Amino acid sequence: MMQIMASVVRFKFGFTSVRMRNWLVGISILVLVLIFIIRYEQSDHKLPTNHTVDGSGVEAAKKPHFMTLEHLDYLFSIKSFSGEEEEEESNCLLVWSHMRPFLERPDALPEAAQGVEEATLAMKQLFVLINKEKQASSMVSKETRRNCPGFVTASDEDLSGLGTVLELPCGLTQDSSITLVGIPDEHSISFQIQLLGSGISGETSRSIILHYNVSFSKPSIVQNTWTEKLGWGNEVRCPCHGSFKNQIVDELPLCNKQSGRTTLEESSNDDATMDFSLSIANFPFLKGSPFTATFWFGLEGFHTMINGRHETSFAYREKLEPWLVSAVKVSSGLKMLSALATRLPIPDDHASLIIEEKFKAPSLSGTRIELLVGVFSTGNNFKRRMALRRSWMQYEAVRSGEVAVRFLIGLHTNKQVNLEMWREAKAYGDIQFMPFVDYYGLLSLKTVTLCILGSKVIPAKYIMKTDDDAFVRIDELLWSLKEKPSTALLYGLISFDSSPDREQGSKWYIHKKEWSLDSYPPWAHGPGYIISHDIAKFVVKGHRQRDLRLFKLEDV
Ligand SMILES: *[C@@H]1O[C@H](CO)[C@@H](O)[C@H](O)[C@H]1NC(C)=O
Ligand SMILES: *[C@@H]1O[C@H](CO)[C@@H](O)[C@H](O)[C@H]1NC(C)=O
Repeated sequence: MMQIMASVVRFKFGFTSVRMRNWLVGISILVLVLIFIIRYEQSDHKLPTNHTVDGSGVEAAKKPHFMTLEHLDYLFSIKSFSGEEEEEESNCLLVWSHMRPFLERPDALPEAAQGVEEATLAMKQLFVLINKEKQASSMVSKETRRNCPGFVTASDEDLSGLGTVLELPCGLTQDSSITLVGIPDEHSISFQIQLLGSGISGETSRSIILHYNVSFSKPSIVQNTWTEKLGWGNEVRCPCHGSFKNQIVDELPLCNKQSGRTTLEESSNDDATMDFSLSIANFPFLKGSPFTATFWFGLEGFHTMINGRHETSFAYREKLEPWLVSAVKVSSGLKMLSALATRLPIPDDHASLIIEEKFKAPSLSGTRIELLVGVFSTGNNFKRRMALRRSWMQYEAVRSGEVAVRFLIGLHTNKQVNLEMWREAKAYGDIQFMPFVDYYGLLSLKTVTLCILGSKVIPAKYIMKTDDDAFVRIDELLWSLKEKPSTALLYGLISFDSSPDREQGSKWYIHKKEWSLDSYPPWAHGPGYIISHDIAKFVVKGHRQRDLRLFKLEDV
């Protein structure tokens, strides 16, 4: 539609001097206006809620049995936050309604049902918070703004009882850390430290994102996860045995490799450990002795340092990612002295600061832009998004509107994070929300969303996907795109010859059912690739008609 309007304008200015041509122009405009009206009538904007018939005219198949229609109906009836028709309120939901057919596919990604169900609950919570905030005086809202603190410490009261020692209202982010100082009881056989999820899923017990079990009877550390639906996962035991031996997470081994020689020396010099066997001497925990345990959050997993030495690592599991952690709990058998979580995600103070104009998304001219950059981000990565706004999003081409940048973000399971995101979206106008909770396994849905955004909502000649930890050289990019074809383009770091990872437990493990062939077709690596407009349209159409299958590795 926008293109048609643009051509109307161009026609008008091109031919004004010749009378005969004026006639032609008049007729052309009429025809175009007619096309415009017809197109508008047929467009999706006119059919906001009814997507049961997809592009191929086939009635949508039944939803997966666990995904209730009420959730979808509720979620897709949302047109703006807070229910008002303010432009800035609805601008962050431009692709939202387009997503329904992809979420109710019977062959939707495995995490889709849970992602949608939790997003529904998250939105209901968020509406309550937003309304509260709108009613509250500015004095009160100043207080609520402190709800994503940069660090939290436990009070004496938190430490004296058993159970939750720390609450983390805005989750964890990469490089956050939690440090606990405690003394195992003289008589304890074991103790546990747990990182818990938010409990939004409607299950009666919160999921355990990391279960850290220290046992003294046969000195060992066992790490695992637990959810009400799935129960316990595969445990990782240190000292290590079998298949875990060579696994690494963020370039660290799952278990600290203990040196036999040091062990011998230590045990002969130290009376207290004489009774233990060789491997016990190096065991980092000792009954009656204080320890400092620091859990920090890497790219691929949790890492634990005991008394300053790396002891264990544990790869994140699907749907149990670190940004979901909302509390730290300890069991009996342990006297806690101190607990601290630091480097926590903190949002900027969007509500009280006057937002500088140069950080807001420039309004779009209406003509087809050169490049749309979709940045995949996640709820509490506040700092990363600000870093992008302050750095490469200041390129002249971005400020002038030749290039548009949008963050694609799913909902969070913590209501405070969602509230902060809503404030951020209103302040900067560069966020598009996804109607699901941001699980790693749903990334491919963001790719499809980006294609919808770039072909229907913000039509662009080229569409780029990147992540919120990448710096995009917009200047270089535009310069090199000048020499590239404007159709049938996939531009990036291409893998021509790669195969599915069949190693169970790997982050990129692919079951034969998900991809049966022994190799992948050529694909561009996720941190930055570009496709032309026609490819984006092809992807959207292919998924609507279900000629294309959803595959969980976004870039592949
Ligand atoms: C949506 O489509 C179904 C069948 O395709 C139809 O029965 C229903 O009335 C439609 N709803 C609206 C709001 O148009
Ligand atoms: C902790 O580990 C020990 C030894 O493996 C085991 O007996 C115990 O049941 C575990 N406790 C919990 C709560 O996981």
